[in-house]
Amino acid sequence: MTILDGKKTSNDIKDEIAAEVAAMKERGEKVPHLAAVLVGNDGASLTYVGSKVKACERIGFESTLLHLSEDTTEGQLLAKITDLNMNDNIDGYIVQLPLPKHIDEQKVLLAVDPDKDVDGFHPVNFGKMAQDMPVFIPATPFGIMELLKRYNVPTEGKNCVVIGRSHIVGRPMSILMSQKGNPGNSTVTLAHSRTKDLEKFTREADIIITALGVPEFLKADMVKDGVTIIDVGITRVADSSRPRGYRIAGDVDYDEVSAKAGFITPVPGGVGPMTIAMLLKNTLLARKRNREA
Ligand code: GUN
Repeated sequence: MTILDGKKTSNDIKDEIAAEVAAMKERGEKVPHLAAVLVGNDGASLTYVGSKVKACERIGFESTLLHLSEDTTEGQLLAKITDLNMNDNIDGYIVQLPLPKHIDEQKVLLAVDPDKDVDGFHPVNFGKMAQDMPVFIPATPFGIMELLKRYNVPTEGKNCVVIGRSHIVGRPMSILMSQKGNPGNSTVTLAHSRTKDLEKFTREADIIITALGVPEFLKADMVKDGVTIIDVGITRVADSSRPRGYRIAGDVDYDEVSAKAGFITPVPGGVGPMTIAMLLKNTLLARKRNREA
C-alpha cells in the first residue's frame, strides 16, 4: 500500500513555484498577486483563507485579503468584484464559498473576470475544461490529478467511481478522469445522494474518489483489494480529547480501508494541502498569461 502524501507533494510544488518567483524577482518582474474575498465569519472558511494567505507569503507571492462583514449586500460584493477585475495589480482572486444566504452565488461567480478566476469556477472556464482547452482547473480536482500523476497511479481503462456531484469537486473530477490523457482515460461513474446501491459500484471500482462529507462512511467491505482511494472529505467531528474540541475526519474509514488499498490519501495531509498548492499554481499561470497579453 502506498500513501499518497499530499503534504510532501504540496511542499514540493510550493518549492518549485517559489523558485520561479525568485527568478521573476531577479529579472525585476512583478511577482504574482492573489486576492481572496471572504464574506462573514464561517470558521472553516476563515481557516482555509488564512492558510491560502500564509502559503502566498511563504512562496513569495503578494496577497490581499478582503474580509467583508456578514451583512455585506450582494451589490456591495459585486462592486468589490468589479474593483478586483479592473485592478491590474491583482493577477487572480477567489471568492471563498459558501457565501451568506442573502447573496446569489451564481451571480457572483458570473461577475468574476474569467482571466482572473484562479478557482476555475466561472462557466466559461468550466466549459473550456470540459472541452479539453487550456484553462484554470478548479484547485481540488487539479490537486488530485497532480497527485495521481506524481505517484504514477494507473488510471487508463480503470473503473473510476466519483462520489458527490458538487461543482467544486465531483463534477469536474468526473470530467477530468474521463478525458484523454494520463492521468485520465478512466471509465467514470458519477454517484450521488440519489444513487441506488452505491456498494454495487464501489465494489467494482479500481479508483474511488469520494467527496461526500459523511465521516468514515466508506468501509472495507465496500471496496475491492488493490483499490485506489482519494478521500476529499474534511468534516469536523466533535472530539473532547483534542485541544480544539474536534478532529478532522475523511469520508473513508482509513484504518479498515487502507489494509485493502493499493494507493490511499490520508486525512488530513492528503488532498487538502494539494488544493492550496494548485491555487498557487493557477495564480502563477495567471501572472504568466497577463505578462504575455
Ligand atoms: N469552499 C470550499 N472549497 C473552496 C474552494 O476551493 N474555493 C473557494 N473559493 N471556496 C471554497
